[in-house]
Amino acid sequence: PRSTLFPYTTLFRSPPVTMGRKPIVGGNWKCNPAETAKLDELVANFAPCAELLDKCDVYVCPSNLHVGMIYQKFAPGIMVAPQNCNFKGCGAYTGEMAVDQMKDMGLKCCLIGHSERRGEFGLPTPKESNELMATKLAYILEKGLMCVFCIGEPLPIREKGIDAVLAECVSQLKDIVPILKALEDKSRVVIAYEPVWAIGTGVTASPEQAQETHKAIRDWIAANVDQKTADEIRIQYGGSANAGNAGALSAMPDIDGFLVGGASLQPEFPEIVKAIVAARSGSAEGVSSGRSEERRVGKECRSRWS
Ligand code: PGA
Repeated sequence: PRSTLFPYTTLFRSPPVTMGRKPIVGGNWKCNPAETAKLDELVANFAPCAELLDKCDVYVCPSNLHVGMIYQKFAPGIMVAPQNCNFKGCGAYTGEMAVDQMKDMGLKCCLIGHSERRGEFGLPTPKESNELMATKLAYILEKGLMCVFCIGEPLPIREKGIDAVLAECVSQLKDIVPILKALEDKSRVVIAYEPVWAIGTGVTASPEQAQETHKAIRDWIAANVDQKTADEIRIQYGGSANAGNAGALSAMPDIDGFLVGGASLQPEFPEIVKAIVAARSGSAEGVSSGRSEERRVGKECRSRWS
């Protein structure tokens, strides 16, 4: 039965076996907030994360316009990660943000490949291809930054089952296999697995569903990159993650953290970080798995983007 396989309702448990991977939680503010007057409050929401940084890496992706205004306002160690980058450096690239500029500003991380840029939904701009993602990733790593690399499947693929889901994820990963193979410090690439149907919908993948997918991705990496990469690379879950569901998801051994959209604009964000820190230390604190709470927070989350 499910409760034997995934005993996440148990209050006290041993931490999942995670090969020593340090958890990582990020907040993706997307194209929010509308008013710069709100920025101080949003930055302040992240303050309690500072004392958890030895146990969990934390990053935030402010909107492009706001990065320059606030990147020095977060506690040291909280990484500011732009939501996109170019792969050519500075020059005549109107509308672009160069990794070189990020490096000069002292930024340590950049996010790429979000489904909203891969054309799954959002603006009807041209899709960013898997090949482009590989080019960007190589450039980011070459410049010394780390990268959050987003992948995920839309609903029609999820409805076909796990094999189709894995095939879709593989199609988004296969171009970066040589890059992952060559990478010495595997913690410099973080895969954010974000099922498109769970993003901004208030519907979260169940812990079992997310674990199954994360494990399938990790097993594929073991077979197609190498075992070291599979053991060491961190795979975050994204898609309506919040303080209510983070505990149950954190109990899963292949979930190494979260990429949080809506809830990263709320004071609950540090609770998500606390949840995975608690799960990794085997403490019950923060590991509430109440389905009713999940539903409540999910509902709140849905209304946040509307
Ligand atoms: P969400 O967004 O948490 O609002 O679902 C996650 C993301 O798109 O990164």
